[in-house]
Amino acid sequence: MKAIITPKYYFEQSLFSQEQKKIFHDSWVCVGLTSELSDNNDFLTTVIADIPVVLQNMKGQIKAFQNVCSHRFSIIQTEPKGNRPMVCPYHGWSYNEEGLPLGIPKKPLFEFSKEELHCLKLVEYSVATCGNLLFVKLANNDVTLEDYLGNFYAYIEEVSNSFGRLVDVNEMKIEANWKIVVENTLESYHVNLIHTDTFRKLGTSGLDFQFSKSHSLWSTDLKYAEDDKAVQVVHKPYKNRPFKINGYNHLLIFPNVLLSTTYGISFNISFVTPVSEAVSNFKSYVFTTRKNEEKKTSAVEEAYENSLKDFNRKVFAEDKFICEKVQIGVRSAPYSGELSEEEMRVCKFQQSYYNLLTQNESLH
Ligand code: FES
Ligand SMILES: [Fe+2]
Repeated sequence: MKAIITPKYYFEQSLFSQEQKKIFHDSWVCVGLTSELSDNNDFLTTVIADIPVVLQNMKGQIKAFQNVCSHRFSIIQTEPKGNRPMVCPYHGWSYNEEGLPLGIPKKPLFEFSKEELHCLKLVEYSVATCGNLLFVKLANNDVTLEDYLGNFYAYIEEVSNSFGRLVDVNEMKIEANWKIVVENTLESYHVNLIHTDTFRKLGTSGLDFQFSKSHSLWSTDLKYAEDDKAVQVVHKPYKNRPFKINGYNHLLIFPNVLLSTTYGISFNISFVTPVSEAVSNFKSYVFTTRKNEEKKTSAVEEAYENSLKDFNRKVFAEDKFICEKVQIGVRSAPYSGELSEEEMRVCKFQQSYYNLLTQNESLH
C-alpha cells in the first residue's frame, strides 16, 4: 500500500508548526512518570506544541502550568527536572499551587490591584495519570484520558505499575523528524539488517497487531519461551512478578511514546519529543519488574541489568543511525513510499496523524 504521509511532512517547517498545534496541542501527551514527581516541589519541564510546560508537585498535587513568568516572561523552571519551588529566576516572583504570583519582591512598587493579580495567574493545563504515567493535555476540551487511551487504558495501567528498578536513562538528540523515529519503532521489517547482533537475536516474528483509537500494540513470541531451559537462570529471580507475558509486546501511545516489555521482566518507555522539523529528542527509561517480595539484588540480576542497559543502548544507537539517513534522503525523495503488511502499524499511525492534521481546519 502507498504511504499516507508524503516526504514533505518530514521536513517542511510550516507542516511542523501545523502538526504541533493540531496533534500535540489536542492530544493527551505522556510526559513522564508519576514516580519522578513524588515529593513536594519535584518538577519536570517539557515543550508541547511549542509551548514550555512545567509539571510540578505542589503540596502533594501534580499541577501543569505554562512555564512562563507573567511578570516579564522568563522561563520559570529552567532545568529538565529537579526539586525547587515555583520561583522565577529573573526577579523572584513565586507562584502558589493555583499558579497565582503571591510572592512578589518589592510589591508596593507595582500598581495592580488584588483583582488584577488574578489576571497574572499562570495558564494551567489538565493533568491525568494512568498507572505510573503522567499525561498533560493543552486543549481545553472534555476528552478524558480514559477516552483517549481507549482499550489500552487498563493495559498501560498494569504495565506501568509493574516498573521496578530503574536500570538506565538514555537521552540523545536524533537529527530526524519525530515521525521518522516513531515509525521506525512501529515495524520489525528493519530488524534483520539494522539490529543484526541485537534485536534480531531475540527472534521476534509475526503480525499480531491490535489497534485502539490511534494507539497500536504488537505482540510476538520470542526464540525462547518463558519456561525454556536457556532462559531459566535469568528468569528465576523474577518468577513472582506482577505482569507476565510469554514474549515481547510493543505499544505506541499516540503520538510519540513507546512502551515495551520482554516477558514482563524488563520494560522500556521511550519519549520522542519534537524539537524542530528535522530534530528530535529521544529519552528512554529501562526498568526491571517490580517484585512481589523485596530481596537484595543478586549477582544474576545485576548481570542481567547490565546486559539490558547495553542491549537497549546498542539498539537505539542503531535506530538513530538509520533514522538520520532517512532524514537526509526524504528531502529529495520523489516517491510517496510503500508499506507492507509488516508495516501496518506505520500505516495506522500515518492515518491517525493525517486525519488529525486535516480535520477541524477552522479551529486553529
Ligand atoms: S520575569 Fe519573572 S519575576 Fe520578572
Ligand atoms: Fe529498530
